[in-house]
Amino acid sequence: MKINLKDETFHGTADAPWYDTQGKPIQAHGGQVQRFTVDGREKWYWIGEDKTYGYRPCGGIHMYSSDDLFHWKDEGIILRTMQSTDEFEDAYFQTLYGTCSSEEKEKIFVDLDQNNCVIERPKMLYNEKTGKYVIWFHADGRFPGCRGDYDKAKAGVAVCDSPTGAFRLLGTYKLNYHDDPNGDYGFDGWENRGSVRDMNLFLDTDQTAYIIYSSEGNRTTFISRLDDTYTALAVPKEKAEEGVDFTRNFIGGFREAHAMFLYRNKYYMINSGCTAWSPNPAGYAVADHPMGPWKDLGNPCVDEGKETTYDSQSTCVIPVDAGRGRYIYMGDRWREDDLGNSGYIWLPILFSPDGTIMLKKRENWNFTRFPDNATIIG
Ligand code: GAL
Repeated sequence: MKINLKDETFHGTADAPWYDTQGKPIQAHGGQVQRFTVDGREKWYWIGEDKTYGYRPCGGIHMYSSDDLFHWKDEGIILRTMQSTDEFEDAYFQTLYGTCSSEEKEKIFVDLDQNNCVIERPKMLYNEKTGKYVIWFHADGRFPGCRGDYDKAKAGVAVCDSPTGAFRLLGTYKLNYHDDPNGDYGFDGWENRGSVRDMNLFLDTDQTAYIIYSSEGNRTTFISRLDDTYTALAVPKEKAEEGVDFTRNFIGGFREAHAMFLYRNKYYMINSGCTAWSPNPAGYAVADHPMGPWKDLGNPCVDEGKETTYDSQSTCVIPVDAGRGRYIYMGDRWREDDLGNSGYIWLPILFSPDGTIMLKKRENWNFTRFPDNATIIG
């Protein structure tokens, strides 16, 4: 049966679970949706956190694919976590890490240990030069000698020849830092400079990729250029120059949940405040370059519920059809007491002729059925 997309709607701000094509709840929180052509077939791919077991055991990174953004096929866990180091003997992990030394395996285990690790906000890039898919994620959690869940504060990098896995973890790293031992590094302190918590990626039209991340105890948003393999910083952090290889943005602004997109030659960033799993007002900013400087334009939400971003937190903006101004804001509706049942809030971004944007409270919408599309270009 051919699907009539006119009859399909996104539930928007309505509280509704979202199921995959097998009827199972979608587990792709803190996620990202983008289009890839794999083996000549173009599809949408949705990557996100698997929270099947709640906060822990950590379920790893889950992938779904779709032809139409409505019907999502489960592509499985593409970055698996481990129960114990014994699993390095299993065929799955043997294939990925069989050539690693025992010291390297110990490090990998710390980052993938499902009873202690934290894997959040995974995002993917396809590298045209290397032909590899690259995942970056917020790699955190307890490690020997530290019981805190958010003290490690690193970025994890994993690669694969296919977007559907199995991804091999290359490592987890601290990233760029402001080089001033007397600077304000928030609760991280100078010792923990280069920390990474909420993060996202952005691929520019010239194929330059950037990583956007909260650092300095979440006070500041860093934007760092990646190298041309997308698996490392463009310039090693000890040599990187502030303002050239990376920028510090919204200094002291405590922003997180960053989502960048390009619309009509302007770069936009939607983000949130830092109130853990509780929603707060979103903000957005515009720039002429992915590394800023950013002009703050305030809260894009305009309807009742704007103080909590309609009970959601940003994670990605999907350029569905840039030419027609069809972009989707993707947010998470976290349920702190039942994280595995957290919801997904997708809303159309409404662009005004002056380039400002709005997020309106909408339920059961689609791009062919806007009750008030006077505000939309395209
Ligand atoms: C949020 C963040 C989430 C998660 C959570 C933990 O602020 O956006 O990704 O880290 O805090 O409390």
